[in-house]
Amino acid sequence: MDNKKKCLLEKFGGEQHVYELMDQFYYLVIFDNLLRDKFMKADMSRVRSQQKQFFTQMMGDGKTQYVGRDLIEVHKNLGITNQQFDKFKTHLKNIALDMEVPTENIEELLKLNEKHRDVIVFQK
Ligand code: HEM
Repeated sequence: MDNKKKCLLEKFGGEQHVYELMDQFYYLVIFDNLLRDKFMKADMSRVRSQQKQFFTQMMGDGKTQYVGRDLIEVHKNLGITNQQFDKFKTHLKNIALDMEVPTENIEELLKLNEKHRDVIVFQK
């Protein structure tokens, strides 16, 4: 298939690769001093599994539907700052680089994440 017609999920090598990326990603997130406090009370296995579904939908071709809680409801009381959101994206970028994902695909993933900043960051 022509690379341009592939959805981002396919360009990342499919669901399994994205799941692996999320697992590695949250490992970095919970060891980051800027981010870890926010996750103190979270059920991380739930967060990971919900995020896998969310990312699969966000990067996919419409087959997977995220049926979890609304992102505003989940994040509105967490007081997440722009700086924390940026750091979240930095970890995502670094993990994807480690997994040797081509730069243009990483940029596309970061752009998709950026679209959600306004419903995640409440502490301007
Ligand atoms: C584009 C960026 C983000 C997306 C798409 C996203 C999405 C999600 C999803 C799908 C969940 C699982 C919801 C559930 O358990 O029902 C979640 C939970 C959570 N997220 Fe995010 N998130 C993002 C950024 C962030 C950032 C930057 C932080 C903190 C610095 C954060 C902190 C949390 C926490 C603490 C939970 C667990 C909440 C709870 O257990 O009540 N998220 N997020």
